[in-house]
Formats: sequence, C-alpha cells, structure tokens
Amino acid sequence: MCGIVGYIGNHDSKEILLKGLEKLEYRGYDSAGIAVRNEKGVHVFKEKGRIADLRNIVDDHLTGKTGIGHTRWATHGIPSKVNSHPHQSASGRFTLVHNGVIENYELLQKEYLADVSFTSETDTEVIVQLIEKFVLEGLEVLEAFRKTLTLLHGSYALAFLDAAGSDTIYVAKNKSPLLVGLGKDFNVVASDAMAMLQVTDQFVELMDKEIVLVTQNGVTIQHLSGQTMERKPFKAELDASDIEKGTYPFYMLKEIDEQPLVIRKIIQTYQNEQGQLSIDPEIIETVNQADRIYIIAAGTSYNAGLVGKQLIETLAKIPVEVHIASEFSYNMPLLSAKPLFIFISQSGETADSRAVLVHVKELGYPTLTVTNVPGSTLSREADYTLLLHAGPEIAVASTKAYTAQIAVLAILSEVAAKYKGLETGFELTQELGLVANAMETLCDSKEIIEIISKEFLSVTHNCFFIGRGIDYYVCLEGSLKLKEISYIQAEGFAGGELKHGTIALIEEGTPIVALATQASVNLSIRGNVKEVVARGANPCIISMNGLNMDEDSFVIPEVHELLTPLVSVVPLQLLAYYAAIQRGCDVDKPRNLAKSVTVE
Ligand code: G6P
Repeated sequence: MCGIVGYIGNHDSKEILLKGLEKLEYRGYDSAGIAVRNEKGVHVFKEKGRIADLRNIVDDHLTGKTGIGHTRWATHGIPSKVNSHPHQSASGRFTLVHNGVIENYELLQKEYLADVSFTSETDTEVIVQLIEKFVLEGLEVLEAFRKTLTLLHGSYALAFLDAAGSDTIYVAKNKSPLLVGLGKDFNVVASDAMAMLQVTDQFVELMDKEIVLVTQNGVTIQHLSGQTMERKPFKAELDASDIEKGTYPFYMLKEIDEQPLVIRKIIQTYQNEQGQLSIDPEIIETVNQADRIYIIAAGTSYNAGLVGKQLIETLAKIPVEVHIASEFSYNMPLLSAKPLFIFISQSGETADSRAVLVHVKELGYPTLTVTNVPGSTLSREADYTLLLHAGPEIAVASTKAYTAQIAVLAILSEVAAKYKGLETGFELTQELGLVANAMETLCDSKEIIEIISKEFLSVTHNCFFIGRGIDYYVCLEGSLKLKEISYIQAEGFAGGELKHGTIALIEEGTPIVALATQASVNLSIRGNVKEVVARGANPCIISMNGLNMDEDSFVIPEVHELLTPLVSVVPLQLLAYYAAIQRGCDVDKPRNLAKSVTVE
C-alpha cells in the first residue's frame, strides 16, 4: 500500500526515486509520481498504472538533486493521474506525498480552506493546502507544518518540498511507517529500507508525531511539541540479493521454493547450543501465565493463526481464540482474566492489527508480535517479538511467511509445553526437518501441479476447497491464494458444512479441491467429496502418503499430523500460481491488492 521515497544529495535524484519506487511496487499500488526540485523550481510527473508508465512520461533531460516520490493505492478518489501524488498547493510552492488516511479532511477543508479550489478528490490535498494557507498568513514554513500536523486526525507518513524556501525535505509520520536513510553527502526517506538499499543500509527510525528536516548533510528530528530528539541509526540487515528475482519469472515462485530453506533457518535460529528449541524464557513465562491467548491478524496471517490455535491448544494446552484484526477493534469479545495477545503479521505494519495492539496495551495486557520484519511498528510496540527469519517476501500473495508463521508458532507451543513439563510425544526439531524435506520434494514436483492446474482450473470461474480440522484451515489459505492471484472465485469450507447451503452452487464440472491429511477424518472428507461428485463436481483430492487412495490426484509425503499444513499448503500455492499464469495474470502484483495494508 502507498509507498514514499525521497532523496537529497549530490546526484540526480530522478533515477534513485524511480528505482526506489520499483522496490516499493511489491506493496501494491495503482498509480505513481515523482517531484524533482532544481534551481528552476519543482517539477512533478505522475501517472496512473505502473512505474514503467511513469518512466515513459518523466523528462529525461530534467535534472535535480532533491526529490520525492510516491506509489498510490487509492482510498479517496479513483486511481487517476489527477489523484496521484505528489500534490501541490494552490500556488505550486509546496509539493507533497502522503501515505495514510486523514479522517477529518472534509472538516478541515470546510473550516480552513473554503476559498481554495482543490484539484483532486484526495484527503491528502488538504495537507499541502493547509501548509500554504498558514504560510500565507505569516507563519514560517516549519511552524505552518507543525500547525497543520496538530490539526490532522488519522494516519500519515508524509514528505514535502518547498520550491521557494531552503533545500529541505520536510517529513512527518503518525501510525504509518517511514524511515530516514543516511549517506555520505546525501540523505534519503523511504517507507521501508528495501527502497533505498540501493544507496545506503543505515537508517533512522521515526516515531509518531515527530517532525523531521532532511537536508543533504543533516537530519533533525523534533517532537511535535518542539523538543529535539536524538536517535542512533541502525543497519538494515538485508542483503540486496534477497530482493532480486534471479532467474525466476516471478517472486512468488522463488518464495514458494525458498520454503524448505526458511524452515531449516527457523530450526537453526531457534535452537540453543545444546541443540534444543529455545525461546526467551520471559516470553515462555508470559505465554504460560495466560489463561487464554487471543491471536489477532489479517489475511494469510489470520489463516496461519488458525493453525497456530490448533498447535498451541494441542501442545501447550492453553485455550486460544483467533480474531480478524479489523473486527476485533470494535467488536471485542468478553476477555478472560489473564489474556495474552499475539499479533501475527508478515509486514508488522498492518494498520488494523496495530489499532488492536494500541487498544489492548492501554488496557494493560501483555502483547507478543510474530513478524518477519524486525523494527516494524508491531514489533516495536509489542512487549515481545518473535521473528520469522523468512527473508523479504516481495510477492503480494504471501507464501513463505505463512509457513514460517506456522513453524514459529509450533516452536512456541512446544517450548511452552516443555517448560511446564508437558510431554508432546514427538521431537519437533526432527519433525520440522522432515517437513523441510517434504517441501523440497513438492517443489521438485511442480510439473505435476502445473498439469493438474491446466486440466482442472483452465475453464472455470469458481472453485471450492474442502477439508476437516486442520485441513479446513489450510483450505481457507488455499482458496485465498487462488482468488488473490488468478481472480477465480474460490471459497474454503469445512467438509461437512458445504452441504448446508453452498452445495447449491455445485454444477457439472465445478472444481473441488479436497485435502485428506488427517487419519481421524479421512473417511468423512472422502464422504463429502462423494456428495459433491454425485452432483457433478470435478474433484482433485490431495492426500497424505499413508492415507491415499486410488482416486487421489496428488499425494504429499508423510509428516506429523499436526504439521501437515506446512506441507499440504505447498501444492495449493502452486495450484494458484499456475492457474494465474495460465490466465495471464500479473502473479506478483495482483490487481487491487496491497502487500502492506497501512490504512484501517
Ligand atoms: C494484505 C496482504 C496479505 C496479508 C495481509 C496481512 O492483505 O495482501 O498477503 O496476509 O495483508 O498482512 P500482514 O503483513 O499483517 O501479515
């Protein structure tokens, strides 16, 4: 979702901004723009569509050593050139990019800007017009900026340029993520470190309600109240090669293939010197003190949370509820006496999850974030963090983060169980090792899944996924993957539930994917398949070795029953991938979706 970059330094900013925006493409966007400042003023280029479309309209001959850029994911106003950022004030003096939502923009417009004519439908434009208004009324730019920020309700990460004033990028943030990067004779601004790894790996975190002045040779951070803040930079622990596609046609395929490696890395990272799985004892005590765990997440992370519930309840014997973050904020269940909140988030930036985190912290409850991004908002603000160590996930459709989340939750469950003397009956390290091997086998059998997807999904507009128990949770993820990237309408159902309504949609040839990895429900799920086949459905049964039957389309290697989601999801990810390829879809950047959803 919306991304921001900025550069101020010795070199021409244009290409650095465009490259930075390309690195932010993965977050999801529908239009983009840059503004470049030189001695003649500030020059704005913006376009609906991809960065490649923006490149086509940027004046090659223009140079300028200061600039800001933006990818927009439309919230207020349709995706269009006019609504794209940067936005300019009425006189053209101020040029601004913004990520977030200004909730009171209509009110501010009425109260302060009734005589200003707006060019876009965005909430953003109100910010840049307010800055200009206060400057025209006699305030210095910095004071006009400060006054504007005190009036805004909502979320923002923003950067602006002043064509008439000093060569500075003015920056501020509230709720939405933003970093400043440091270099020799230059400084940069970025929504995430990946965008500016091309020029630096030294970054400074910005906190909510701070104003930052970025010049070629310095960065000044002030709290909104005026107090100057000192902050040390950190080194972004990212390898630039981690974010390259290599020989893969799409990041998604690369990330599916990386899963065995990620599982092995997780085992290694969470092992102590004695080779035992280990987690900070303070976290384990907090988990074990809870009388109920509330998992809060969105999208794929929510689906991983459902599997996490099964793991924690089975191994650590603590009751767990899993909640959709956007619902929990205003529809909070009656809480237990000693709850623990676990936030699962690949990006660590999902605004809905953060809203819950802020709320439950105010209530004084302990919080733990499970995320892939160290230093992300949810990680910084929770009491504890467990990292996924999955490496950057670029494709919008999450794959390796999902399996990494499940693996980390499995480790958390086992360590918590052992800590209180519960016997789990198996050696998790070893079992996870078998999972990694099984994933590898599946990644090596891609052609089979490709053929299945061609035969099975080529001429359909819908598809159902059924499973029981833990397989049902994986079906939710499999169906989400399919609809996200191939745009085939897909739903996951508990095997026994399909006949209570939805079976009405089954027609001759309707594809049904059924998972059969659990011995206790193997026969029941096969019974459910028979019910739909009798009504014309075309089944694809994916079973686990040992439970397989002649009718099955694909058999996954045998792993521990509780860990099957880590393996059974792989063919479903590949099924979605190949279905999307067949349909000519942009696998990594599906329409309308954002990777990092930073607005509520
Ligand atoms: C977006 C992404 C999903 C992701 C969800 C939650 O919708 O497209 O892939 O699962 O956000 O994101 P998080 O970063 O909190 O896991």
